[in-house]
Amino acid sequence: MNLQIGSSQQAIELELKYGATNYKPIPVVLSRAEGVFMWDVEGNRYFDFLAAYSAVNQGHCHPRIIRALNEQASKLTLTSRAFHNDVLGKFEEYITDYFGYDRVLPMNTGVEGGETAVKLCRKWAYEVKGVPANMAKIIFVSGNFWGRTLAAISSSTDPSSTRNFGPFMPGYEIIPYNDLDALEKALYDPTVAGFMVEPIQGEAGVVVPDAGYLKKAYEMCRSSNVLFIADEVQTGLGRTGKLLACNHENFLPDILILGKALSGGVFPVSAVLASDEIMLTIKPGEHGSTYGGNPLGCAVAMEALQVLKDEKLSENAEKLGYIFRKRMQQLCHESEWVNLVRGKGLLNALVVNDSEDSSTAWDICMKLKENGLLAKPTHGNIIRFAPPLVITENQLHDCCDIIEKTIKGFKKE
Ligand SMILES: Cc1ncc(COP(=O)(O)O)c(C=O)c1O
Repeated sequence: MNLQIGSSQQAIELELKYGATNYKPIPVVLSRAEGVFMWDVEGNRYFDFLAAYSAVNQGHCHPRIIRALNEQASKLTLTSRAFHNDVLGKFEEYITDYFGYDRVLPMNTGVEGGETAVKLCRKWAYEVKGVPANMAKIIFVSGNFWGRTLAAISSSTDPSSTRNFGPFMPGYEIIPYNDLDALEKALYDPTVAGFMVEPIQGEAGVVVPDAGYLKKAYEMCRSSNVLFIADEVQTGLGRTGKLLACNHENFLPDILILGKALSGGVFPVSAVLASDEIMLTIKPGEHGSTYGGNPLGCAVAMEALQVLKDEKLSENAEKLGYIFRKRMQQLCHESEWVNLVRGKGLLNALVVNDSEDSSTAWDICMKLKENGLLAKPTHGNIIRFAPPLVITENQLHDCCDIIEKTIKGFKKE
């Protein structure tokens, strides 16, 4: 098949003509990437400041991860779980040891990880906690995002996720984020099985809760016999300056959901980790996925996790995150267009001084593109900045220079 494309324009036109219209990308057509850089069809080079929503923490086309992919791809890619394969067990041992859990349930996408966690939590509620049949409740927080399936959007407070997609999943309760009093009240209900939360809300615009919120919420769940489910699909794997964002507050969630960078951006791999008590409630035939636990994904994920450790990417994210926020704070003082930078490690956002429905953040991202840096707004007036964690200090300063120059020179047309 001829995959040659003549120009960016041609590629965009094909998507517009034949594709569903469920995305509105920045108009750049990428054809190659390496480390922190991406190149478009015309050969222009950009710094990647989104890292595929934190899936490419290890940098694009990391040679070790690509080697693991190629080596495994030429041996065995998929058996389904009807049979064993000779990589899955090794992966299960590796990842449980890496994060300190008894067991893992491998899936593919992040949303399937969330769905698996919700099912596990319900099963545990009925079979261990003793919640009456079909009464189990899961608590979520406003502003959460864990994907686009019906189970996921049923917990959403964002109208663009839910409009005209009902009816929704019962058994959910939504409380405000970063509000321990609301959690305390919700936990009085003995049918509550779990509390599912992102340690930092990525899609909501990198919303960081108060220090101590997560640990206290975890302790409150513990004393109410409720499972604390951490959705670390975006915040995990070094992104916030620790292996897990929960590590900032020194606790291990009862159920941990990982995805995205678990495969370094080359292949969809997600995983749910938990104790024997929780995981063993699901029996053969009760949950699964054709591709979940496939040998290709397992081989890639082991290498992707080892790269995080060997290259000290959490440490790099922590150190460069401070530098980034310091420079952006300075910019917020000097520019009328931005008023706040927030985040942890290399998961950060700049808040644009304009209304959510203005095009200012989008227009700034278009100018950033012209100046060689790719980022995308979230929620209208927030620009998320999340480069691959392999970025060097010099490269980060170059990127801060681009952002500074772009925003200081920005004029509304
Ligand atoms: C916190 C969080 N959870 C879950 C998901 C869903 O992951 P996926 O798009 O791989 O299904 C996302 C995606 O952005 C996310 O940010």
